[in-house]
Order: sequence, then C-alpha cells, then structure tokens
Amino acid sequence: MAEPVREATQVVIIGAGPAGLTLAALLRREGVRSVVLEIRERAHLEQRRRAGILDHPGAQIFTEYGLADQVLADAPVESKAEYRLDGVSRLFDTPAVAGGRPGRMVPQQLLVRRLLAVSEQEGGDLRFAAADVTPHDLASDRPRVTYRDADGVTHEITCAYVAGCDGFHGVSRRSVPDGFLTEYTHDHGIGWLTLMAASPAPKYPLFAISRHGYAAQYARGPHNSRFYLQYHLGTDHPRQWSDEHIWQQLRLRLGDRSLPAGAITERELVEMRSYVAEPMTYGRLHLAGDAAHIITPMGAKGMNLALADAYVLAKALRAALCDGDESPLAAYSSTCLRRTWNYQDFSKWFSEMVHDAGDDTAAGPFRRKLALARLERLFTSGPAAAAFADMQVGIPLP
Ligand code: APR
Repeated sequence: MAEPVREATQVVIIGAGPAGLTLAALLRREGVRSVVLEIRERAHLEQRRRAGILDHPGAQIFTEYGLADQVLADAPVESKAEYRLDGVSRLFDTPAVAGGRPGRMVPQQLLVRRLLAVSEQEGGDLRFAAADVTPHDLASDRPRVTYRDADGVTHEITCAYVAGCDGFHGVSRRSVPDGFLTEYTHDHGIGWLTLMAASPAPKYPLFAISRHGYAAQYARGPHNSRFYLQYHLGTDHPRQWSDEHIWQQLRLRLGDRSLPAGAITERELVEMRSYVAEPMTYGRLHLAGDAAHIITPMGAKGMNLALADAYVLAKALRAALCDGDESPLAAYSSTCLRRTWNYQDFSKWFSEMVHDAGDDTAAGPFRRKLALARLERLFTSGPAAAAFADMQVGIPLP
C-alpha cells in the first residue's frame, strides 16, 4: 500500500456545515491554522436547506470578527411574529419587548454559501469529497486525522486539536470510546410535514394554533413560503396527503380561507427529537454543533447553538495554541452545555405551548388549558413576555 501524504496543521476541523465553516473563519482571525475536511461536494452544501434565523448573539459573532459585511449583508432584521389562535391574530414584537437586540434572517444555505466564499477569498484550506475521514490518537497530545481525497490518495494530518463539526451522523462523536459520553435523548412525539410552496409570503412569521393541529408559515422571498403542518405520529400518513388536502388543512389551521394555493416544490417529514452528549470534549477532540447536540426547530436555536460553540471553541483554541493557556479549553464543554440546556428547555417550552394549546389529541384537555394559559400570559404579563423574548433574542455570548 502506498504511503500516505503526511501533513501537519494546528487544528483539523471535520465537517463544513455552519459550525465547521464558522470555526475555520474565526480561527483564521485568531491566527490559528486549520484544515477543514468535508465528506460532500461543495454544490451539495450550497443547496442544503435548513434553519433560517440568526439570533442576536449568533449575528454578533460575525460583527465582532469583522465578517458582518460578507455574512449579514442584506439580511432582514427580525421584527414581529404573528400568533394566530383559532384564526384570531396577535403580534409579538420580540426586539421591542427585549429592548432591542434583534436577530437576522439568514437561511442556513445562504450562510453556508457566504462562509464558503469567505474561505475561498481568504485562502482557507477546505477540502471537499474527503472520504473515510478517521481521527486517531485523540487521547494523546499529537492526534492525527486520515482521509482519502477524490483521487484516492490517502492523507495523514498531524495536529494539536481536532474539532468534530460533522453533524449528528458524523464520525467524530463515534470516535469517542464507548461509555465515555453520557447521552440524553428525548422524543417529543410530534411530527411535521414541511413544505416549500409558491404562495405569497406572510408579512410576519406566522405561528397558527388550532384545534386541527399546529401550522406555521414563514417567508422565503416575496413569492414563496415555507409551511409546517403538524401530523399525528403513527396514525397520519402525510406522505400520502394530496396537494388538495394540504391546502385545505393549511387554510383551516391558518384560519385563512383565501390562502392562495401554489405549486408545492419540496416536502419533508421532521420528527421532533432532542439529543445532548456530555461532555463535548474527549482528549484532544472537541465536538461542536449537531455533532454534540440536536434540538427541535421550535425557537430556531439549532444553527445558533452550532455558531456559539464555534465561537467559544475558537477563542479557547487561540488561548491554548497562542498563549499557552489551556483553561478556556478545559471549560469549553461546560460553557457550551449551559447554553445548550437552556435552549433545549426554551425549545420544549415553546413547542408545548403551540402544539398543546391547539389539537389536544396527544396532550389531553388539561395540558391544552395549561398551554393556553402559557400563551395568554405572553400577551398580558410584562415579565412573562420579557422572559420569552429574552430567550428568543438569545443568551449573550460568554
Ligand atoms: N467526514 C467529513 N464531513 C462529514 C462527515 C464525515 N464523516 N459526516 C458529516 N460531515 C459533514 C456534513 O456533510 C456537513 O457538511 O459535516 C457537516 C455537518 O454540518 P451540519 O449537519 O449542518 O451541522 P452543524 O455545522 O453542526 O450545523 C448545525 O445544522 O442540522 C442543522 O438545525 C441544525 O442549524 C443547525 C445546523
């Protein structure tokens, strides 16, 4: 067998999603060298659609590191959201209630595209189509990562640290010896059919709570909307729903009989699950983003958690590699887990409110009443509204 191409860098980053690309951009600004290894081709990353909101600290990361012009350009500022209960509408103005600190609307694929462009402009070492990426000797102080490039050549990169930013199904977390991590999982028992459709965008993000099940509608440009329709796990078969049934359900749940039907261009099923692995560090491996934790889409915190992990990790790696101070790295896991658990709690709380307050098939009438009281409090109690808005805008960066 041919000898591998031997190389060296300071940090190998596995995965070029929001966490890995952000970490690489911040490390360049901290004067730390890195190589990013990504299993997929560039075109795949640029197309992959996911979350769409940067919370305030998420956006601040790019401002602090001088990347606002490239990453946040033309991104609308988050303002009000509409809560429609059985067709009756109320607006919640998060930045007004939280005293400013608005988030920015940056769909994940746009963020990824922009960060890829930044990497290219700055000569970042980003390698696509990296097969069989495998970390080695993570418990030593000279870990290595091997992979095979698109020409079939094996490379071995020696480094000081490995950042596992390869998402929930990546190789990094699986490289940690069995029994080291404590894994927390929760199945929320909620399914969503998510759709992209040619239907005029709503003025504000719309959360519709209804006896017929939860639905939501967000703008995706002026002429398209992303819709979410709750379905009952086990009993509903949303893959078989006709377009006609979908539009009938949307009109019913959104309380909008005149909602215009348009071509449905994408359909996907989402089952709401949460997962957290503790700690986020094993030897010289640090996990970030979905590699360490996944969260439900309610509250839009998944991408923001990934970015906050990258931020904390970039500063900690700089301290270790440039200042010889390992203490921020030693605190990396506990620092990030604090935010993670707070966002998990927020996401579950928010999710219960909008799902349980409507269709009580799963929740039952008692939980429906509780959820309705929770929702009502947001519009009648200043402190309750402020607590909600505070989590929506996001926990300040450490
Ligand atoms: N080797 C190299 N790269 C890998 C491997 C592997 N074995 N496995 C996965 N990857 C890549 C994926 O192709 C992807 O580009 O790692 C990247 C992980 O990106 P994401 O899954 O987007 O994870 P992350 O960067 O943590 O961002 C979290 O994604 O799922 C959403 O809601 C979530 O918005 C949040 C965000």
